[in-house]
Amino acid sequence: MSDERVVTVLVAVQVPEEEAAAVTVLGAQPQVTVARRCAELTELLAAAEAGAGTAAVVSGDLPGLDRDAVARLRRAGLRVVAIEDPAAPAERLGGLGCDAVVAGGDAENLVAAIRGDAPETGEPVASAEPDLGARPGTVIAVWGPAGSPGRTTTAIELAAALAGVGAAPPRRSGLLRQSGLLRRSRPAVPRAGSRPRGSGPNGSGPQGSSTVLLADADTYASSVTSRLGLLDDAPGLAAAARAAGQGVLDVVTLAGHSPVVLPGVRVLTGITRASRWPELPASSLDVVFQRCRELASWTVVDCGSVLETDEDLMYDTRAPQRNGATLSALAAADVVVVVGGADPVGLQRLVRGLEDLREVAVPVAAARLVVVNRVRAAVVGRRAEAQVRDALARYGGVDDLHLVPDDPAGLDAALLAGRALAECAPGSPARAAFEGLAARVREQVPAAV
Ligand SMILES: Nc1ncnc2c1ncn2[C@@H]1O[C@H](COP(=O)(O)OP(=O)(O)O)[C@@H](O)[C@H]1O
Ligand SMILES: [Mg+2]
Repeated sequence: MSDERVVTVLVAVQVPEEEAAAVTVLGAQPQVTVARRCAELTELLAAAEAGAGTAAVVSGDLPGLDRDAVARLRRAGLRVVAIEDPAAPAERLGGLGCDAVVAGGDAENLVAAIRGDAPETGEPVASAEPDLGARPGTVIAVWGPAGSPGRTTTAIELAAALAGVGAAPPRRSGLLRQSGLLRRSRPAVPRAGSRPRGSGPNGSGPQGSSTVLLADADTYASSVTSRLGLLDDAPGLAAAARAAGQGVLDVVTLAGHSPVVLPGVRVLTGITRASRWPELPASSLDVVFQRCRELASWTVVDCGSVLETDEDLMYDTRAPQRNGATLSALAAADVVVVVGGADPVGLQRLVRGLEDLREVAVPVAAARLVVVNRVRAAVVGRRAEAQVRDALARYGGVDDLHLVPDDPAGLDAALLAGRALAECAPGSPARAAFEGLAARVREQVPAAV
């Protein structure tokens, strides 16, 4: 019987009359104790994390109440019930991840919601979490160990290949476009009426191809923005995370933050300074990646290299996690593409990185593709491909590698033009290898288009 469960409630309700009513109603219930009346969110979080309650009643307009706060309460084991407010409608509160939302003054549903029971009468208790069962699109995390093995290159080229970005005449280039700093930046939001070459309506790719979203979630050295010659004033991923944190991220909002930058490829740009990493909390990105599935057939996430959750060791209470963005992407991913460099240092890091990935703090999809990038004889000796395959099989237990040749001419041309290889160096050997990688990814996810 549900009545036999003891529920210890922490109350953080703004309006005094509403608070008094909630406390009175809850206090009169058998097996329900109001343990703490909290004046503000920080007090509520402290009480929750100290284990003082099993449920929280919060007013929807409680200052600071966002997705991260609700996630903290739920992680502390509390059932979170929010009271609807004109400033905080049920829809928004639902987006914050509350377990239930009830109307102000609805005592009956409040009690049912606190107990986790279906209400006997009246309006159903609104459930909160977005529908995580609906997964139309596929998420691919591109991860790799420290150094610069080519994560961003792989993410961009994989996105372009999945979108079917085809060969096109190279863009005009010149001395002024030679570096990321000097290259004329494109606005992240295209001008009204403008459309990248080859893109279909609504940002869809070339005819018959998929829509792809490229997200830069590297919290240490994000580079998609400068690599594609975009203005870096408004990180799209941080804006989407902010909207998700406030419970208002829908597909239209997400599309507004992710302009079409290559034909068929939308881009959620990354943070411009590493110090802005707190703008990418995992609790918000979990929702962003879910929405990405609704917006695009494929979402390719460029991840940072670091996987540790040191904050858990360093603090007694929960601290923001710098690597939360990478962990969120790995947890969301249907396929993880692991990129390593083909030189002795890169191969050793790759072997260790694969071990680290097995021990990471979040569940990671079994579907993994290992890419060794910049394969060349100069650093591993003759028969470079065979050498790399032997080394990875012997030390990493990986038999199924995807090799990408070193292609400085192609990649430098792409860097200079701020485009994908398919657009500016269509005959490049690296491009052919990345096309092959896209085919392998499609095989891993047969249901996807
Ligand atoms: N296959 C390749 N051949 C030649 N240069 C490459 C190749 N892959 C990547 N690069 C170059 O290596 C550098 C680092 O690549 P990047 O993708 O930014 O690495 P990461 O994201 O892992 O730090 C870039 O200048 C890029 O153009
Ligand atoms: Mg990078």
